[in-house]
Amino acid sequence: MSFSKKKMLVTCAFPYANGSIHIGHLLEQIQADIWVRYQRLRGHIVWFICADDAHGTAIMIKAKNSGLSSENIINATLLEHINDFKSFNISHDNYHTTHSSENLYFLKKFFKILNKKKLINEKNIIQLYDPVEKMFLPDRLIQGQCPICNKHDQYGDNCEQCGSIYDSLELINPISMLSKTKPVLRNSNHLFFNLPYFQDQLKNWIDSGVLQKPVMNKSKEWFKKGLKKWNISRDAPYFGFKIPSYEDKFFYVWLDAPIGYISTFKNLCVKNKNICFDDFWKKDTETLLYHFIGKDIIYFHCLFWPAILDALEFRKPTKIFVHGYVTMKGLKLSKSKNSTILAKDWIRYLDSDTLRYYYASKLSNKIDDIEINLEEVVIKVNSDIVNKVINLASRTAKIINKYFSNKLSDVLDDDNLHSFFLNCSIEIELFLENREYSEAIRKIMNLADIGNKYINSRAPWMILKRKGIVKEVQDVCSMGIHLFRILMIWLKPIVPVLAIKTELLLRSKLSWHMMHSPLLSHEINTFKKLFKRLDINLIKNLLI
Ligand code: MSP
Ligand code: ZN
Repeated sequence: MSFSKKKMLVTCAFPYANGSIHIGHLLEQIQADIWVRYQRLRGHIVWFICADDAHGTAIMIKAKNSGLSSENIINATLLEHINDFKSFNISHDNYHTTHSSENLYFLKKFFKILNKKKLINEKNIIQLYDPVEKMFLPDRLIQGQCPICNKHDQYGDNCEQCGSIYDSLELINPISMLSKTKPVLRNSNHLFFNLPYFQDQLKNWIDSGVLQKPVMNKSKEWFKKGLKKWNISRDAPYFGFKIPSYEDKFFYVWLDAPIGYISTFKNLCVKNKNICFDDFWKKDTETLLYHFIGKDIIYFHCLFWPAILDALEFRKPTKIFVHGYVTMKGLKLSKSKNSTILAKDWIRYLDSDTLRYYYASKLSNKIDDIEINLEEVVIKVNSDIVNKVINLASRTAKIINKYFSNKLSDVLDDDNLHSFFLNCSIEIELFLENREYSEAIRKIMNLADIGNKYINSRAPWMILKRKGIVKEVQDVCSMGIHLFRILMIWLKPIVPVLAIKTELLLRSKLSWHMMHSPLLSHEINTFKKLFKRLDINLIKNLLI
């Protein structure tokens, strides 16, 4: 079978520029980054992009409350976000912002095309308006009683108690969260994208296997209810891009945000002249496009976005990979409820590989939520990474350093065991490819146990005692290093810092296609501590 090099573009959903990166965002970024690093290790060409989602009411209100301009806020946040992702070794090729010249360019261009195709209609609608703040209220800034179950303090779009979705006009006794006063009804003209026109194309696309089963079922429910025209405009005051030839009207943030996938990629092409923009976005391209998203934004990515791409005669996503929420004590992490761990706090007490390894050990390709438990983080990382993987290297490398001038043996002590490890690679590759990371880790740790058992049963330290510095000791310890090296090739996409340290120790790059060639007669470096055992007391700092 000949190897065919794939060309892929991978994206993560753009974090809003009104808050800090927390470990919920990091779940998605780590899930995607492991996959991207794995694909690159297998020799494929992967461009991995993300950006800040800079527009919308929330940012405007934050700016107003802090006395800064929205631009000031998004510029500062962009630097902070880039730094946070770097500290977790998320290997983006480009991290841009939706408040960019490229994004405005594409938005205007696409708006023209949609208009030309008569896919945009104007309609006068009634909305809730806050006369004190002098603005129309987005759903998140209205609270009232659920029209279905009467539960108090529910947002304008859906009820947390009974799960109903409704229009904010149906809410009982609505109150503006901004002025705490009762909003009034006011009408204004809005622009609607003709989503129902795309119903059949969307159904076909979804049936072609681009979504996970539960996501597919969810979108089928939406089809059953019937698709509605989508309001893509917002009234001033709003922080976003102005709609050409309309007074005081702005594009809705959810129109320009996904277009940011295109403009962020364009920005990358400007920086790297070897990438061909059209190659990734033209209709019948063979390149692949993958979006990693959370389950809260399925509607936007599985309906609006492919419909827009269809309308523009652009390519559609190859797959959309949806994940669940990170929860702590059963609750979704949320900035507002003060129940989260920020990326920069995590990194103050712990390292990036720890979170990456822990998430990998919990992640599958399902959309179930992931409960994080800090005691479990300590136990898992100490017992897997330190006691299994590194233990295999530290015991053997130190002997090679001390008695054999760093030189590995010229023979494989146990050919069968080495082949057994290599044969397991196919299964592990499938797990990684299919984002079954927890399964991959289960298998890898199982093999680490087998490697340690081999060393325990051969006990090179006993041979040393009994026979002195004989070749058998070198053979057994070298074998331990070869097995450790295979484990670390598999783990490289998951724990990149440990992988770099391992490469330094082995004086050899961990490469997938070299897995089959053990480092015979090879000189290694002096063993230095590869990983610091976690201390539960340090972790407790994170909860204060
Ligand atoms: N700005 C939009 C995305 C626009 S994409 C063109 C957005 N931003 S977000 O900051 O709220 O979320 C960014 C991503 O992080 C989303 O995929 C979201 O599902 C994910 N997560 C945010 N909180 C999360 C958890 N607690 N757990 C897991 N993922 C979470 O949505
Ligand atoms: Zn309700």
